[in-house]
Amino acid sequence: MVFDYPESNPFCNSSGSALNQLEWLTRYVESEGEQPFSTELRNASSGEKSQFPEKYLSCVVTDPPYYDAIAYADLSDFFYVWLKRTLGEVFPLNFATPQTPKTQECTALKHHHDGNLESAKSHFENKLLQIFDAIEHQTSDIVSIMFAHQSTEAWTTLCNSILGARMNITGSWATDTEMTGALKN
Ligand SMILES: C[S@@+](CC[C@H](N)C(=O)[O-])C[C@H]1O[C@@H](n2cnc3c(N)ncnc32)[C@H](O)[C@@H]1O
Repeated sequence: MVFDYPESNPFCNSSGSALNQLEWLTRYVESEGEQPFSTELRNASSGEKSQFPEKYLSCVVTDPPYYDAIAYADLSDFFYVWLKRTLGEVFPLNFATPQTPKTQECTALKHHHDGNLESAKSHFENKLLQIFDAIEHQTSDIVSIMFAHQSTEAWTTLCNSILGARMNITGSWATDTEMTGALKN
């Protein structure tokens, strides 16, 4: 068995300990708490054109799912079942289902499509197109999209969805994001 993500002892005093992580959080809150910005959090499935009025936003910065790289909803189930027990009565709408909803997730995971890869791909492309279409409708100037995937197929799908939503691609910046010591490199 290969362990990609080792866990460190939370009770030690070195990097990765609970205390160390709390210190990072405190430093972040102290530093960012000085910024004169306010935020508004809205929970919604992307793709809803009526979330904001037409061309209301001047800029959107988004980080959509990475094709088939991560099964977000499946991973969330691990936490969902425990959170449901503790917070289910506080946020009944968020915990209405036995597990996290999967059908509207914007991913290309074939196990959500009876093992059919083509169906998974077309679900991703259509869902992403719907999301970009809504973004285009609500944004007047710039859309910045972060996308992390190594396959040309995933990038082609992303570009198809962008162009399908009548947006123009005006720039692309490749970035190395993985640590050189990562096991998957
Ligand atoms: C690449 S991750 C973004 C992570 C985020 N930037 C962060 O730092 O936490 C993509 C996110 O899109 C969410 N997602 C997938 N399908 C979605 C949908 N239809 N509507 C809204 N969010 C969705 C996934 O659950 C995941 O949290």
